[in-house]
Amino acid sequence: MSPANPVHNYKGIILAGGDGTRLHPLTRTVSKQLMPVYDKPLIYYPLSTLMRADIREVLVITTPRDQQAFVDLLGDGRQWGMDIQYALQPRPEGLAQAFLIGADFIGEGPVSLILGDNIFHGAGLSEKLTKACRREHGASVFAYHVPDPERYGVVDFESDGRAINIEEKPSLPKSHYAITGLYFYDREVIDIARAITPSARGELEITDLNLAYLRRGDLNVEILPRGTAWLDTGTCDSLLDAANFIRVVEKRQGQKIACPEEIAYRKGFIDEEQLLALASQQLKSGYGEYLHRLTQDHEVIVDEI
Ligand code: G1P
Repeated sequence: MSPANPVHNYKGIILAGGDGTRLHPLTRTVSKQLMPVYDKPLIYYPLSTLMRADIREVLVITTPRDQQAFVDLLGDGRQWGMDIQYALQPRPEGLAQAFLIGADFIGEGPVSLILGDNIFHGAGLSEKLTKACRREHGASVFAYHVPDPERYGVVDFESDGRAINIEEKPSLPKSHYAITGLYFYDREVIDIARAITPSARGELEITDLNLAYLRRGDLNVEILPRGTAWLDTGTCDSLLDAANFIRVVEKRQGQKIACPEEIAYRKGFIDEEQLLALASQQLKSGYGEYLHRLTQDHEVIVDEI
């Protein structure tokens, strides 16, 4: 179990704005990041990724329409030993805007941004996250091999593995490596974000921010290996694929993926009594029973959560 005190000073931002138009009519009244992914709302997955990195102070950025629903779901985070705050992005004006909206929250320290619809799962991930959080200087991003790189920010490499360029949704991608929606930046990020101008599609692009770090020689690009799951959930098909993936793995192992209560408990953010209280609130779905079982499970080996 990791110590309850933070091991670094990273804060986290979850960007959960956007209109989710590619999921209409599902998202006409409910935020995309509240859609179910099998047994839990989508936002639990990115939140869990931050928790796995020992990030306990999180800002959730939403549309004005959806903010209250997120507050109802996540509260102030205290129930999970977290501190969760909220801010608004009135219009989808780009991922890099998160640092302007969150400037006061970020303060003087480093920050991680995760997109509210990105799901990460796989062995070794916790170690990679912790490593990124130990870096005090520069930025860290993760690249993932995909068959359709033109849908993403694409990084291309020199033959020695050094990243040389990133292009946002290029029509002729120079590699199959997409930059995933999980980013770690040092304290310079707010100033760099302030200097960016909107792209042709009218957005403050995260790719421009990453390029600024790359040009300074301060961008660390880590490849997520084969076997890691990076799922995005922007369309009906990808949302269902993600749910099926989570269901298959959870059923086979009898362990949940991205269960904030479990992560909080295993990391020592909350104690057994707090976990049991959370369990008793959601017994009927079986979710609470799972939490309850965790306190009775005295297995010596607890693998990565
Ligand atoms: C955004 C970023 C892109 C990144 C992707 C990851 O794309 O602009 O660089 O690869 O997230 O999910 P968008 O969600 O705007 O399509």
